[in-house]
Amino acid sequence: MDTTTAQPSAGTSGVEERRETLTVIDNRTGRRYELPIADGTIRGADLRQIKASDDDLGLLLYDPGYADVAACKSAITYLDGDRGILQYRGYPIEQLAERSTYLEVAYLLIHGELPTKEQLDRWTYEITMHTFVHENVKSFMQGFRHDAHPMGMLLGAVGALSTFYPDAKAIDDPEVRYLQVVRLIAKMPTLAAFAYRHSRGQPYVYPDNELSYPGNFLSMMYKMSELRYRPDPRLERALDVLFILHADHEQNCSTSAVRWVASSRPDPYSAVAAGVAALYGPLHGGANEAVLRMLKRIERKENIRDFLKGVEEGRERLMGFGHRVYKNYDPRARIIKQAAEDVMEVVGRRNPLLDVAMELEKIALEDEYFISRKLYPNVDFYSGIIYEALGLPVEMFPVMFAIGRTAGWVANWLEQVEDEEQRIARPRQIYTGERDRTYIPIEERG
Ligand code: CMC
Repeated sequence: MDTTTAQPSAGTSGVEERRETLTVIDNRTGRRYELPIADGTIRGADLRQIKASDDDLGLLLYDPGYADVAACKSAITYLDGDRGILQYRGYPIEQLAERSTYLEVAYLLIHGELPTKEQLDRWTYEITMHTFVHENVKSFMQGFRHDAHPMGMLLGAVGALSTFYPDAKAIDDPEVRYLQVVRLIAKMPTLAAFAYRHSRGQPYVYPDNELSYPGNFLSMMYKMSELRYRPDPRLERALDVLFILHADHEQNCSTSAVRWVASSRPDPYSAVAAGVAALYGPLHGGANEAVLRMLKRIERKENIRDFLKGVEEGRERLMGFGHRVYKNYDPRARIIKQAAEDVMEVVGRRNPLLDVAMELEKIALEDEYFISRKLYPNVDFYSGIIYEALGLPVEMFPVMFAIGRTAGWVANWLEQVEDEEQRIARPRQIYTGERDRTYIPIEERG
């Protein structure tokens, strides 16, 4: 047996020193390796020295879905899924949802600190001054089919921004980076509202820079012939809270997509378009749409037990439940549940699906299937009900998620491009196909 890596061995004083290392014995060769542990991780590269023979490439980690791989160091969002804790830059999500605004939270995510009054005014002014999009973006949007999915339109439009701002490629320039961050946060609601209006066959509404970030969004969505749209402050606030709750969630699928694309160093619009694409899927940002469809299918409380039987038998999936990281109640779901109640009060009609959802949650949380798998409601379980109360069609739900998540995407994009340890994302594979075959002419193939 030989020990491969150089790490200080146990002291000779008789007292075993605590060593930040992992000892691995490869039973194929009898070799022993001592791998350094840092921040609760071992380096993937250190595994490569573990070889069964000289021509072996070295040990790799097989981890579909990257569930147990830390791919970056980040100081943006802290998440403890077992204890149901979510913090942006160290501030608990509950406090931010109660006391902050989305634009302030976006500032916090991007800059790392809460702004002073002057900084927040400046930031709000900058975002507000960039809400308009180039007129050609409008023509671009008009090119979509009348029934195009708004998330597909958003995806195309964000990618297209890359062609409107060729200067954005200079990502090594901090000022250029900053300008794109402002543009992305400012223009996302405009693109989202244009996508919505397009799918309704309604004229696009230009931003109203006198309104707040969520108020302006509501205006671009719902303004008709009135001279000025006046959003209900309670709905404005509910929307702002939803944006805050969706603003970031560490290395989720879409943020990882942004980072992956960013690792090859294109402009941020291309990277964020990848985030929108990843968010589109029903297992991620599309889940709120799937929740509402599911609730409509269940329709009444009496049908819940039958539905859950289908889940247990593997025929159904309880959308809005379960999470890769949370093995406890998602703190965002608790806040959204309350917001759903508030919005129902404002719009003056209680959606019966909210009662179905609450009963479904209650029964599922007492059900052995969900208890044993630690499946709890996630952020999407109640968000769709709020969106529906706001009059949004289900196709707009992931678009709403995308608006909020933009702050997290750009904060992660900045961190990624500024991180000197990052390299182009390029995982390996376990090759399972044929090898060394000889080409057969088509007339000889059976
Ligand atoms: N309904 C029924 N069974 C489930 C569910 C669910 N929603 N989620 C997980 N399970 C089961 C799964 O079948 C598996 O069972 P078994 O051990 O018998 O094979 C076990 O629980 C572990 O699940 P998993 O699929 O290994 O978990 P994952 O970490 O790969 O998936 C997830 C996480 C979010 C994709 C999954 O829980 C899911 O599909 N949930 C429904 C979709 C959803 O609500 N997505 C929104 C996520 S939160 C917002 C966001 O970040 O986008």
